[in-house]
Amino acid sequence: MKRTLFAISIILILMSCNNQPKPAEEPDTTTNRTWWKEAVIYQIYPRSFKDTNGDGVGDLKGIIEKLDYIQSLGVNMVWLNPIYGSPNDDNGYDISDYRAIMEEFGTMEDFDAMLKGMHDRGIKFVMDVVVNHSSDEHEWFKQSRSSRDNPYRDYYHWWPAERGKPNYRWSYFDEKGEAWMYDSTTNAYYLHYFSRKQPDLNWENPKVRQEVYDIMKFWAEKGVDGFRLDAFQFVSKDTTFPKLPEGYEKEVIKYYGMGPNLHDYLKEMNREVLSQYNVFAVSEGAGSTFEDAHNLVDAGRNELQMAYHFEGVDLCNSLEGYELADFKEVHSRWDSAFAQEGWLSIFLANHDVARLVSRYGNDKPQFRAPSSKMLNTFILSMRGTPYCYYGDELGMTNIGFDSIEQYRDIAAINGYKKTVNSGGDVEHFLKTLKFLSRDNGRTPMQWDGSENAGFTTGTPWLPVNPNYTTINVKAQEGDPNSCLSYFRKMVKLRKDNPVLVYGDYELVRPEHEQVYAYTRTLGDVKMLVLLNFSDEAAGIELPEGTATDEVLINNYDAVETAGLAVNLKPYQAVVYALK
Ligand code: NOJ
Repeated sequence: MKRTLFAISIILILMSCNNQPKPAEEPDTTTNRTWWKEAVIYQIYPRSFKDTNGDGVGDLKGIIEKLDYIQSLGVNMVWLNPIYGSPNDDNGYDISDYRAIMEEFGTMEDFDAMLKGMHDRGIKFVMDVVVNHSSDEHEWFKQSRSSRDNPYRDYYHWWPAERGKPNYRWSYFDEKGEAWMYDSTTNAYYLHYFSRKQPDLNWENPKVRQEVYDIMKFWAEKGVDGFRLDAFQFVSKDTTFPKLPEGYEKEVIKYYGMGPNLHDYLKEMNREVLSQYNVFAVSEGAGSTFEDAHNLVDAGRNELQMAYHFEGVDLCNSLEGYELADFKEVHSRWDSAFAQEGWLSIFLANHDVARLVSRYGNDKPQFRAPSSKMLNTFILSMRGTPYCYYGDELGMTNIGFDSIEQYRDIAAINGYKKTVNSGGDVEHFLKTLKFLSRDNGRTPMQWDGSENAGFTTGTPWLPVNPNYTTINVKAQEGDPNSCLSYFRKMVKLRKDNPVLVYGDYELVRPEHEQVYAYTRTLGDVKMLVLLNFSDEAAGIELPEGTATDEVLINNYDAVETAGLAVNLKPYQAVVYALK
């Protein structure tokens, strides 16, 4: 099928808010119960959540104002994208002060109040740690670039120009696609895997590593409960910078990821920071093989607790959309590789991709709500810790900009420049961007039907999606059939049923072209999940011995069943208890 375009609450969560020394870990298996496995994480892009001072940019006071809403979702952990001091070349992923709060977002007092407000509500907090690179406006880099013998010189990667041009390195955001930038002050090139204003830190320098651990301790002492390590698989580098094969950038993670000393650094970080507090850490990226991923997260290794791999979220990366068969295959393969040991994250959307329902579901008016509910059923019924992105609980959709002037994201703007300068297909680039741009997933939260969706009284930094008049929290609050009400029910179902967290996963009718069906089993508790990924009705004959008992959740009023035959409506999602 081709898709077009697109509690047992071990209430450790309620335990002390202050960070206590961490008890010794038992050997981990997937069924060993731990608070971070039982979490449902809500990701907030702070720029876009709620503005309280009318400057058009979301702020921490806005998050504080909405804490009761966040709690009402049932989620028990929040991950915020970076809120540190930053010139915002990449919206906070370029940090100039790791111990300060970005002025647009508020003050350290606001942060403390926000954290307390979360903890008072039994919600844990995950801090984004961006240390593969800093901002070029960080004092370390200012010093480093000032002279070759500055004590901070080796905080970054420099290549003296008298040695000739360094071997080509590809950059994610550079407008020429080059990761080496010439700097005339010292007649040398510095490395930046991301933008020119995001120079890569030199992790091979022990002083840099100590600085990072001190920063992490600063936030752990404040009481944060977890760290999300941005682009961390890239930190360790072969500093001889050898020539890489032609076209290597098509498999960039294989070449940039899992550098020579990465595991030593993670063990060091674990010893110095993670093991000293009741915190967990999740790596953005998991290398390029299962072995890489296991080596990051398996408990006996004393490195990280969790990782997120990109195979699932990357399935829909072109205008052609994706195949359900591939979707099932990827998620089943990763699940089985982590069935005995290690722990992963489950997500289909975040601030780096377009909206969940527009990419993996169907945002046409008649299908938006059912497909959005169906996708949330998937995320919240799989093994692994679910990450739910703000606005996806409402079924917020892509905004779909038509002109490059409308974008704010450096990836879009510099990608456009690169396409123009290299004589690429600009029309195709813009069409793809309209569907896949990160800005699609960053438009302001739609709170109500008032001007600017109740996000700001000023001019929003990124336009509000015009469909806010109908798709918004206020409209959905009062409607028991809304996406929001369904999301709350589904979160509750997961939290009340450890089988959805820890249970074994088994595909049912793997060959079915429209329906993704699987069971989850823990001891004698068994559930069946049926998800129709298509815009047409779909019949499925359940295997002999699949005796459905109760319907636990359904995104339609009823489900048509006759014996073992179930007839699902377009994008219908049903979770059954099995006898
Ligand atoms: C990954 C982050 O998720 C993304 O938003 C950012 O642009 C890059 N890392 C660079 O920090």
